[in-house]
Amino acid sequence: MSNVQIGSSILQKKAESLLNKLDKQQTKGEKLDFGPVKAIFKDLLGQLKKRETSYEESEIPDKEPEETQDHLWQLFNFAPVGFLAVNSTGFIRQVNTTFARMAGQSIEKLLKMPFIELIHPDDRNVYKSHFNSMKNLSGNEIEIRIRGYNDYVWTILSGHANRIELDSGDYKDSILFTVTDITYKKRIENEQKLLFHRINNFQRAESLGLLASGIAHDFNNILTIIMGNAEMLEIKNKQADLQLFTRGILDATNKAANLIGQMLDYSDEGQVKTEKLDANHLIKNTSAFLRSFVPTTISLSFDLEKSEAGIECDPEQLKKLLINSTINASESIGKEYGKISIKTTTVELGPDKKTDFMIEPESFAGKFLCIEISDSGCGMTKDVKSRIFEPFFTTKLTGRGLGLATTPGIIKRHFGGIAVSSEPGKGTSFRIYFPITQMRQENFPIQFRSDNCLEELDMSGLVMLIDDEEEVRTAGQHILEQLGFRVKAFADGCKAIEHINTTSDSVDIAMVDLTMPKMNGLDFFMELRKLGKELPVLFCSGYTRSALPADVNSNPLVGFIQKPYNLKNLRGEIARLIVRNRN
Ligand SMILES: Nc1ncnc2c1ncn2[C@@H]1O[C@H](COP(=O)(O)OP(=O)(O)OP(=O)(O)O)[C@@H](O)[C@H]1O
Ligand SMILES: [Mg+2]
Repeated sequence: MSNVQIGSSILQKKAESLLNKLDKQQTKGEKLDFGPVKAIFKDLLGQLKKRETSYEESEIPDKEPEETQDHLWQLFNFAPVGFLAVNSTGFIRQVNTTFARMAGQSIEKLLKMPFIELIHPDDRNVYKSHFNSMKNLSGNEIEIRIRGYNDYVWTILSGHANRIELDSGDYKDSILFTVTDITYKKRIENEQKLLFHRINNFQRAESLGLLASGIAHDFNNILTIIMGNAEMLEIKNKQADLQLFTRGILDATNKAANLIGQMLDYSDEGQVKTEKLDANHLIKNTSAFLRSFVPTTISLSFDLEKSEAGIECDPEQLKKLLINSTINASESIGKEYGKISIKTTTVELGPDKKTDFMIEPESFAGKFLCIEISDSGCGMTKDVKSRIFEPFFTTKLTGRGLGLATTPGIIKRHFGGIAVSSEPGKGTSFRIYFPITQMRQENFPIQFRSDNCLEELDMSGLVMLIDDEEEVRTAGQHILEQLGFRVKAFADGCKAIEHINTTSDSVDIAMVDLTMPKMNGLDFFMELRKLGKELPVLFCSGYTRSALPADVNSNPLVGFIQKPYNLKNLRGEIARLIVRNRN
C-alpha cells in the first residue's frame, strides 16, 4: 500500500467521522443541507486516489474535523467550476457560489428554480435529450448556454449521476452537474470562424481580382474599338433609323464597360485622384448617362441644389457610386412602374445623427453635401440591409453582389459617410455624404470652375497617339480627329521617341497606352522627360488608374483615361491637360 493510499484511507475514516458529526448537527435541527457536500467529499477522495502519482509522498496534514469541514466548504463554494445538484423533478437543490455568480442570481433564488429555466431556449432540447445519458454515463458532457447576469453564458455541462447518496426522497435520482464557463473559448472560436470566412472571401476576391484584371484589359480594348466606331457612325450618319441602332450599340457598350469597371474596382486597391469639383454640376452632367440605366417605366427625377457644392472628390468614383445606386434602385423596382429621385442638399451633421450611419464620416464637423438616391422599390429587411456592403452578397438571381462592396472603401477615402433607410415594400433611400470644402465658385481652381469653360476650349494641334493594337489606334485616331486634332499614330513607344528625335514636329499632347511591347507607356513618359519634353501626357489603359505609380499620377501634366473612352470623356480629359499646361 502506497503512502498516498494510506493517507487516503486515514482521510476517509476522518471523513466518515465528520459525516456522522454533520448528521448529528442536522438531527439537532440545524437547517444546513450537507447532502451534496457528502457527495463531493466522496468525489474528492476518489480523485485523490486516482491522482496517486501527483501526490508523491507528501504527508496529509492532520487537521481537526471542524477545520476540514471549513476547508471542504471553501473548496465546494469557490471551486473554479460551478456545481449544482438537480433532483429528479428538475429542481435545483444545491449550488455553489461559483455557479451562482455564473448565473448572476442569488443562491436562495436558484434553489427555488427548475434548472431548465436557466437554459437558453434553443439549447433546452439538447439538454433534455442528453439528460438520460448523463444520468447513466457519468461525466457525459454537453455544451449549452445558461442565463447569466447580462447575457447567456456558454458552458460545458457535465453530469455525474448517483453521486448523491442521501436517503432523503428529495435527492433521489439527483444528478450533480459541474458547469464550466467557456464563453471566452466560444468567442474565440466564433472569431476564428469569422476570420476563416473572411480569409475565404478574401481569397475568392483575390482570384476574382486576378481574373478580372487579366481579362478586363483585353475586354476594354475591344470595347474601345466598338465604342469608337459606333460613335463615329453616330456622328457621320444622321439617318434617324440608323441612329437608333447606333444608340443601341453605344448603350450596350456603356453597360459592358460599367460591368467590367465594377469587377476592376473590386480587385483594385483604389487609388483616388481627387479634385475640387462642383458635385451638383457633375450630377447634372451625368443625368443623361444615368437615365440610360433605367427603363422607361421608371421615372428618374433630379432635385439638385442651386448653389455650388464644392467637394474634394474623384469624379469617376462619384459617377460609379451614382451609377451603382441608380442601377440598384431600378432593379429594386423591376418591371413595375416606379420612381427614382436623386436629390442634393447641404447639411450639418450633429453627433445625434450618428446612429443613422452605416458608414460614419471621420468627423461630423462642418458642412456636408448629401446626395440622396431614393426609390419606390421593394425595400430591404433589416437582415438584408445589414449585409449590403458584404462582397458577393446578393438577393438577385443574376446579381454578383459587387456593386456596393466597393462603396465603403470609396466613401472612406473621401472622408464621407453613408446612411440607408429601407423597409420591405416601402422603398429605399441611400444618403451619401461628402464633406464640403469650398462653397464659393471663385475659390475653385480655374480648370474646375465649370465644364462649360472646358467645352469652349479650342481643340487643335498635334496629338501623338501610341497604342500597339491597330484597331484601337484607328478608333482613337478617328475620335481625336473628330475633336479637331491632327494625329500621328505609332504602334510602340520606341517609334514615337524616334520620331521626336528625328523631326521638328511640335507635339502638343501624347496619348499613350500603358501596356505595350518594346517600350511601355511609363517608359515612354520617362524617356520623354529625359529628353526635356514637358508636353502633357494622357495615359489610357484597359487597367485602372492605380496602374500608374503615385508620383506619375500626381504630376499635373499627366492625365488618365480608362478604356473604353467616348468622345465626350476624351475631350474633357484633354481639355483639362491643356488648361493645366497653360497655367
Ligand atoms: N435600392 C435598393 N433596394 C433594395 N435592395 C437593395 C437596394 N440596393 C441594394 N440592395 C440590396 O443589396 C444587395 C447588394 O447590392 P449590390 O449592388 O452590392 O449587389 P447586386 O445588385 O445584388 O449585384 P451587382 O454586383 O450586379 O450590383 C442587393 O442584392 C439587394 O438585395
Ligand atoms: Mg447592384
